Amino acid sequence: MKQKLIAGNWKMNGGLAANEALLHDVRQGLAHALASKHAQVAVCVPAVYLSQVQQMVAGSGIDLGAQDVSIHAQGAYTGEISAAMLKDFAVRYAIVGHSERRQYHGETDAQVALKAQQALSAGVTPIVCVGETLAEREAGKTEEVVKRQLAAVIHANGHCISEIVVAYEPVWAIGTGQTASPEEAQAVHAVLRGQLKAATEHSDRVHILYGGSMNAANAVELLAQPDIDGGLIGGAALKAADFLTIISAAAH
Ligand code: PGA
Repeated sequence: MKQKLIAGNWKMNGGLAANEALLHDVRQGLAHALASKHAQVAVCVPAVYLSQVQQMVAGSGIDLGAQDVSIHAQGAYTGEISAAMLKDFAVRYAIVGHSERRQYHGETDAQVALKAQQALSAGVTPIVCVGETLAEREAGKTEEVVKRQLAAVIHANGHCISEIVVAYEPVWAIGTGQTASPEEAQAVHAVLRGQLKAATEHSDRVHILYGGSMNAANAVELLAQPDIDGGLIGGAALKAADFLTIISAAAH
């Protein structure tokens, strides 16, 4: 069985001093726990802090992640950051298609697919986020929505698809304290697993993370589901004790 992956998504939080304090505590916690041997851990940080965090996680077993990547490889795209630039800072993961970017920046399925493609071609693993809104869930469209979102990425990335990470993040559960029940989450994860299986013979390699108010109290149950291979953690990743508890839940 593959190790679970616990990735923190700091979103637009932190600062030089706060990052230092948080990572100091996480590093110390991991050094004292066996957990680090049984779960992969990553932190996806604001781009301006990649260099700081790269230095702070060196030798700790914590991988570095970004929260977005450009659809372009280089050139006149003011404000954008390319996958190759992320690679320069030893970035292993880049979140693509987070619902906050789809919602507030109008990112489309096609753009998310291009972002995944750019990341893969630079050797950065895209964490592809999919998830339905509350209205879509209530209309019985959950499966249709997540399959459409993942299909765009599969279509654009062909045989590389086994190299991605998928994160199922129901939009209504993000930052709301409302979590999908383990059974609800598992049902969607099973759908996504099936879709990946149809696309690649190496689908078992793909981590499918759950995200959306995963916390120290509910992590064990969610992570016990057969198709939940880890978590993408927002709010709870900003508190070292909570993040460490989730990591140790992933080591069970
Ligand atoms: P949350 O965020 O854990 O704060 O709900 C998760 C995410 O948006 O990645």
